[in-house]
Amino acid sequence: MTETRIDDCLSNRNGVLFIEEMASPDLVERFGSPLFVFSEDQIRHNVRRFRDAFEKGWTAGPVKVMPAAKANWLFAIQRVLADEGCGADIYSAGELDVALRAGVDPRFISVNGVPKDKEHIRRTIEVGARLTIDSLQDVTFLEELAPTLSNTAYVRLRIRPAISEFVKKSDFAPDGMVPTDLVALVYKGGLSVDEVIEAGKRVMKLPNVEVVGFHAHHGRHHRSTLYWEAQMHAYARDLGRVCNELGGYRPQEISIGGGFAIPRDPHNAATDYTDPLLFGSLHLLSLGLKYLGARVRYRVIDKLLKLVEGHPNTIPAPSIEEYGAATTAALLEALPRHGVDPAGVMLQLEPGRAIHGNAGVHLTSVKATKRMTSPIRWNLVTIDTSEFWMTGGRFEHHLHEYCVANRLNAPRVMKADVVGRSCYGDRLLGAVRLPEVEVGDLFAFLDTGAYQEVSASNFNAMPRPAAVLVTGDRASVVRRAENLDDVFRRDELPEHLARSGSEKAAESSPAERTPASPNRA
Ligand SMILES: Cc1ncc(COP(=O)(O)O)c(C=O)c1O
Repeated sequence: MTETRIDDCLSNRNGVLFIEEMASPDLVERFGSPLFVFSEDQIRHNVRRFRDAFEKGWTAGPVKVMPAAKANWLFAIQRVLADEGCGADIYSAGELDVALRAGVDPRFISVNGVPKDKEHIRRTIEVGARLTIDSLQDVTFLEELAPTLSNTAYVRLRIRPAISEFVKKSDFAPDGMVPTDLVALVYKGGLSVDEVIEAGKRVMKLPNVEVVGFHAHHGRHHRSTLYWEAQMHAYARDLGRVCNELGGYRPQEISIGGGFAIPRDPHNAATDYTDPLLFGSLHLLSLGLKYLGARVRYRVIDKLLKLVEGHPNTIPAPSIEEYGAATTAALLEALPRHGVDPAGVMLQLEPGRAIHGNAGVHLTSVKATKRMTSPIRWNLVTIDTSEFWMTGGRFEHHLHEYCVANRLNAPRVMKADVVGRSCYGDRLLGAVRLPEVEVGDLFAFLDTGAYQEVSASNFNAMPRPAAVLVTGDRASVVRRAENLDDVFRRDELPEHLARSGSEKAAESSPAERTPASPNRA
């Protein structure tokens, strides 16, 4: 048997994709297609690398890895993270619930996000989780609750620093042309410096409330370590000002949020920029070609289409160790410079995609192939998944690394669009190189462990696929596939629509029901 490692958890064994010790075709045979697969080992490995890398650099105090639950809030996955001693970044009441049930220590749960209702804030405090203030409305609710509390509320203030050093274009901006510092400044999360100061002053006056530190999160605008250095400089600068305005306040905890890219970083220049540029020029050209008649126009277009080809990223993102070194060094240098003593401060980080991304593979079967030869040449491969089951990635214009999981060693001889099963265009991969594929072949999207399964919807009344966790040579369902009953479970009929048309007809008068007889006028 020949074996080539693709990643920590992925290997090519005789041309077949293995996830840990499980062959991907076996997984689909057992659990159905399409299928979300998560590698337990990869998640644990990623957590440990983050912990080690940041502990190595952050010499001032302890480090806590608090993965973003929004990226993957499956109960079993949260259990793995709790077992690794992780905390959690929580957005909603539901995420708080699953983290607590999974056994995450509430002292390391950060309840972030806007908006929070009063009940969510009350529960956060009651269970002993950290409340991250992200609006002045949060402060108002806290003012109302504070006098009635039977336990201390541990509160942090979320700040939105202006990363003025970093003006490269943000990968989040739809047209790819907006500078990162601007996109980050207008994002809804976090408070401006002035508002943080106001929030801090109000909260510090409250009974039963202790302000334990600060939080910031900008997300993955750019993969470079320069971006992280710029964030840390901006954060330290703003913290210096806030601490000063709050009377020389000293934080015990500083959270730097998430946004570290994964190695095969699916944010993709080829999809976002090259492809539209080529098609844009095609559009202009085709306007001119219109006057030459359809045959000539299609012949020219056919030639130009040969140039269009989609490629997932080939430039690896910095490693976890590089992120750890750059980020901690920048923060340790900048905090004292701005008057904030880092001694004893717990550094917290909230990676989402970087913990879960490369721990997930989405397996999906080829259902049809179409090969058009005229008036232009174009191939389509239809698979049984959909962009509606990988929505998180669609929002961020991902182009995932892919392979035909049962033909890894076959040469990529054809170019095709890989399209999903929904009635939308569902163009999951545009003009990519593939081996010759047949109906029944198994397609794999790599790096789909974050934001994908958890964002799947029921468009086209499609039941959502199952998710399995692979642990060595074992695989267990961690979220079962839906059936049609699940899809319609929340539907209700108003009374006046409750009876079907045929029932109504059955209740109508016999005369109306009897077909017209030839004897009747
Ligand atoms: C507060 C907070 N922390 C962490 C994350 C995780 O970000 P990422 O998955 O890019 O690491 C998010 C994502 O939106 C977030 O809002």
